[in-house]
Amino acid sequence: MKHVIDIKDLSTEEIDELIKVAKDIINNKEKYAHKCDGKQLATLFFEPSTRTRLSFESAMLALGGEVIGFSEASSSSVSKGESVADTIRVVGAYSDIIAMRHPKEGAPLVASLKSVVPIINAGDGGHNHPTQTLTDLLTIHCEKNRLDNLTIGLCGDLKFGRTVHSLITAMSRYKNIRFVLISPKELVIPEYIKRNILDKNNIEYCETNDIEEYMDQLDVLYMTRVQKERFFNEDDYVRLKDYYILNKEKLEKAKEDLVILHPLPRVNEISTDVDDDKRACYFKQVEYGKYIRMALIMKLLEVE
Ligand code: CP
Repeated sequence: MKHVIDIKDLSTEEIDELIKVAKDIINNKEKYAHKCDGKQLATLFFEPSTRTRLSFESAMLALGGEVIGFSEASSSSVSKGESVADTIRVVGAYSDIIAMRHPKEGAPLVASLKSVVPIINAGDGGHNHPTQTLTDLLTIHCEKNRLDNLTIGLCGDLKFGRTVHSLITAMSRYKNIRFVLISPKELVIPEYIKRNILDKNNIEYCETNDIEEYMDQLDVLYMTRVQKERFFNEDDYVRLKDYYILNKEKLEKAKEDLVILHPLPRVNEISTDVDDDKRACYFKQVEYGKYIRMALIMKLLEVE
């Protein structure tokens, strides 16, 4: 039985195969409509979500399966003091696979140690969000037709941004990848990502707080939200929340085939006047999230 807690739980070959299957799903939806007949997905969300929970549910329904679960901890027996470990053992008796989001880093890993069914980490604190990364990889592949030879700008909250950490980890496996890390000094990428991923794999990167400095070199620009829920101090959040606002003027020097991504939700960091730009791919990215999760559910349930 396989769990996906970290993007590192999937080999490069497995990721490439998931992308291939997701692309086939996009073109042949009917072929997959009964692949998970009789199977049940449980979505256990101890932290708010729109895209991840609903795309998992939509994915399972599109495969012919069924969905159970909860969308907030207060409506489960966790509010009475039940542990994550006990909750997982119980839900494993009612479902074939579990997607779980939790504010505490490591909670899905703890769950996987007790689970009798596959666990998918749907986001744990500021740590990891592997299915967002699979979504990002599928989007980049669909838009650029490759995952190598890319200069990728990551902008915003690089300190707490779990999607950024997972994406750097995944992209570092591909050839000739270069990162431009754009953040205020308070939200720079953690040292362990630099040491264990970037330096270890000899990945070229530079750091700046100026979103326009390397704009003309980027193939992908990955914007992120400054996450209020990760700050201990409201004043710091207020000071940093509008540090970057991508608008048409800031894109003046950008390549014609730049791909602009954002895991969403957006607050202010991309002006709505960018939404109509052909380079804005963040709403397509949302749709791709459903297809890659369909591919992942099938893989973990060992559906042919
Ligand atoms: N991208 C993402 O994880 O969105 P949600 O928080 O809405 O699930």
